Amino acid sequence: MTPDLIARYDQRVPRYTSYPTAPHFKPDITDRTYGSWLAELEQNQPLSLYLHVPFCAELCLYCGCNTAVTRSYKAIAAYVECLEREIEIVARHLPGRMAVSHIHWGGGTPTILSPGDLERISRRLGSAFDIRPGAEIAVEIDPRTITPEHVHALAAAGLGRASLGVQDFDPKVQETIRRVQSFEQTAQVAAWLRQAGVSGLNLDLMYGLPFQSIASVRRSVELALRLDPDRIALFGYAHVPWMKRHQALLPEAALPDAVARVEQREAAADAFIRAGYVQIGIDHFARPDDPMAIRHRAGRLHRNFQGYTTDEAEALIGFGTSAIGSLPQGYVQNAPTTVAYREAILAGRLPIVRGVALSEDDRLRRTIIERLMCDFSVDLHGLASEFHRNAADFRHEIATIDELAADGLVVRDGLTLTIPDEGRALVRTVCAVFDRYLENGAQRHSRAL
Ligand SMILES: C[S@@+](CC[C@H](N)C(=O)[O-])C[C@H]1O[C@@H](n2cnc3c(N)ncnc32)[C@H](O)[C@@H]1O
Ligand code: SF4
Repeated sequence: MTPDLIARYDQRVPRYTSYPTAPHFKPDITDRTYGSWLAELEQNQPLSLYLHVPFCAELCLYCGCNTAVTRSYKAIAAYVECLEREIEIVARHLPGRMAVSHIHWGGGTPTILSPGDLERISRRLGSAFDIRPGAEIAVEIDPRTITPEHVHALAAAGLGRASLGVQDFDPKVQETIRRVQSFEQTAQVAAWLRQAGVSGLNLDLMYGLPFQSIASVRRSVELALRLDPDRIALFGYAHVPWMKRHQALLPEAALPDAVARVEQREAAADAFIRAGYVQIGIDHFARPDDPMAIRHRAGRLHRNFQGYTTDEAEALIGFGTSAIGSLPQGYVQNAPTTVAYREAILAGRLPIVRGVALSEDDRLRRTIIERLMCDFSVDLHGLASEFHRNAADFRHEIATIDELAADGLVVRDGLTLTIPDEGRALVRTVCAVFDRYLENGAQRHSRAL
């Protein structure tokens, strides 16, 4: 990609973990709407569950997650109680006892919960749902704070996959972003997990952080590879200080520019590919025999709020503050603050504050965007007929696609669009062509590159 193209397309676009994207959720979707959506679910379809834990021991300055620092376990214990109640409230609305194929603990830092509380919630889930024997249970882990007791509690609850937050191993970068974490610390946690029988190991790395360079990114990748992960998520630092005020404490002058970001990303991607990993979508790498790589080859990869996923469940239920649920009827989001969330739960209500019901047009556009994000290719004609629509309805979009094609971002062959290797970093820009909601929310997203 030339510097000129980078400059022209370094715009703000959504990450497309949903469509419509979360800024377009509206308060007309209430707890009552959600209650009826839950009741309408097909009882014989397995569910996927997401549990959000919005607490951390310290705040990393780059963090874009929904979390807050808490030093008192009292607040966490109160939250655990709310999660337990929320599980009961949701279960009451379902058409009956339902099976679960996926559980994801995210945050914040789920392992800020005591081992006993992790077990308690797992037991509560087990009594409300039929957790399928082969269900994938995954957790996000901050290696700086987890103990062997946490690992044992999670392993006993069936943990199969852990994502360790790393970001970068360079001491100067780590000090600047206020996340000091030695290689040995990370390696120790990976060893505990493997000894406990947790076979799936993911690492989160980042580029675009202050003081990162091609050399420092290469070095971090080299160290990451020593841990022999199954998957790596390589996230471009999303600098949104107007939404996450602590990010303003980072030295902006030390942030790599768009060209440097592209170079860092490519350097990391090259190193992973040379080490035998396959690239998946915009920010993942996996061993060729990993389920994610297998699904990717079969064109069956999906995208949800955690990014790329092998999860094929039709309904994803979110628990905890700010958690987003995805049901066949539409999306819902829980109250974003712990106070409002708790208030709803204590009143026995589903803590939903907004959402969106999907129209047929939304579903078609969502599928186009998901296939582009996952496969870098989409057959507009085939998808339009699947949705009983005429591909000619997309003539305005096609005109814009042709402008992007002239710059090499996409190749159009009739109604089949393919993103060439050089254009992959800008796939979100191609997706945005199909986003009918974009104009109003354009300023709220992070940069494309
Ligand atoms: C919830 S955290 C992972 C678990 C744990 N809290 C930790 O930090 O180790 C999820 C991941 O999101 C990524 N992340 C956080 N803030 C980000 C930002 N502003 N831009 C891009 N990625 C970010 C990091 O790679 C982080 O590991
Ligand atoms: S990156 Fe992880 S540990 Fe750091 S503040 Fe964000 S959620 Fe917490």
